Amino acid sequence: MSNPMPQLLEKLSALLGPKGFTADEGEMAPWLVDWRGRYHGAAAAMLSPAATHEVADIVRLCAEARVPIVPQGGNSSMVGGATPGEEGDALLLSMRRMNRLRSLSPEDNLATCEAGMILADLHDAAAIVKRRFPLTLGSKGSATIGGLVSTNAGGTQVLRFGTMRGLVMGIEAVLPDGSLYEGLAPLKKDNRGYDLRQLLIGAEGTVGVVTAAGLKLVPAIHERAVAWVGVSAPAAALALLRRLEEKTGDAVESFELVPRAALDLVLTHIPGTRAPLAGAHEWNILIEAVAPEGAPGPGDLLAGSLGQALEVGLIQDATIAVSEAQAEAFWRIRDSISEAEQKDGPAAKHDLSVEVAGMPDFIRDATQRVESRFPGTRVIAFGHLGDGNVHFNVRAPAGSGGEWHKQDAPGVISFVHDLVTQAGGSISAEHGIGQMRLQELARLGGSARLQAMRAIKQALDPHGIMNPGKLVPLA
Ligand code: MLT
Ligand code: ZN
Repeated sequence: MSNPMPQLLEKLSALLGPKGFTADEGEMAPWLVDWRGRYHGAAAAMLSPAATHEVADIVRLCAEARVPIVPQGGNSSMVGGATPGEEGDALLLSMRRMNRLRSLSPEDNLATCEAGMILADLHDAAAIVKRRFPLTLGSKGSATIGGLVSTNAGGTQVLRFGTMRGLVMGIEAVLPDGSLYEGLAPLKKDNRGYDLRQLLIGAEGTVGVVTAAGLKLVPAIHERAVAWVGVSAPAAALALLRRLEEKTGDAVESFELVPRAALDLVLTHIPGTRAPLAGAHEWNILIEAVAPEGAPGPGDLLAGSLGQALEVGLIQDATIAVSEAQAEAFWRIRDSISEAEQKDGPAAKHDLSVEVAGMPDFIRDATQRVESRFPGTRVIAFGHLGDGNVHFNVRAPAGSGGEWHKQDAPGVISFVHDLVTQAGGSISAEHGIGQMRLQELARLGGSARLQAMRAIKQALDPHGIMNPGKLVPLA
């Protein structure tokens, strides 16, 4: 069979016009490497449709020609999920031009956004009508709604509101044959069998392209209180969380664990940061509690509960931000951990979950086992303790160069993944599989899961054109 690409490119160029089609290497270059610079891909062209019917035409033409498509939003995947392979036989499908807010209804607590809308823009739009979209994360200035849906993103507010799975009320998507799945109606109850909405969430573009989503809004925050707390161990931190839940109802939205080593890295590498507490603590927690309009202030509630926790020796010290600027400064420390770690040297990064109650013991035992098995390494486990999810990052021995990543990190990674699998947990809590975790999913995913995933992929995408080489390991 002759190469279908030249004819396909001609058709796509005519369909999309100069704004929606480029094969220029310079224009495509920034989008062919992931933001961490780990994966470098190639593409025959970059397509930037402006409307759903254009996406449907693109997918139909590509399906006919059996040409692979790699959908991409803000290009901030943590696992290389939006970077094409190196072969250059795929087309990059940028959703960034489809960035309209189709509707915003405070009455229905619903925003309907096109896939390319940036998360921070949705936050701003919702604030105007005294609502908010409660999911947020460090890359909110670039992450798009389609990417967040397709990776079932988490972030720092999952404790109270859940991941994207709990916030997506409806989905519009183009399936791998070019047909349109019109599932935007925000039905609270719908028992028509298999849940395609949930199938598309977290599917990383492997069974269709999400073109729009209906998202749940909640009341805007009237007031927030942000505290920084020192504790001796993750077990004490978790006990504190349960105590706060008893005392404050569902006011606690974020409960983020920051080990001393992570705080030290931030203070060393991120200009303008200061330690929130005078003394050094082995573990710190950043807590955010909020209150809607008319409710008692969360600051008093938090101060009372933390005071009692201090009296009974559950925590070592605590401070509550006295201004929004100070609250932002606390959050900046938390959000800069990855950047500081990056600046400090190589590390093997993990995104692990176990049952929430089991995380303190997991952190303790796994740290001890990793550090004794790989002498000189140092574990930094930080993040979403209240969700049973930490980024269990293993820093290379001091003085290691970039080659550590290639030579030593794979052994560390499989060791850590074995530990979390033995503990009944997951090797990907919130970042997805992409290409980075594909082999590990194949190794540890379990045959029933892998068979079912392959069968679904084969049924919906028989020609394997949707984001190949991501999420679903080949048999
Ligand atoms: C975070 O929680 O800070 C991120 O998910 C972890 C990361 O950037 O590696
Ligand atoms: Zn995280």
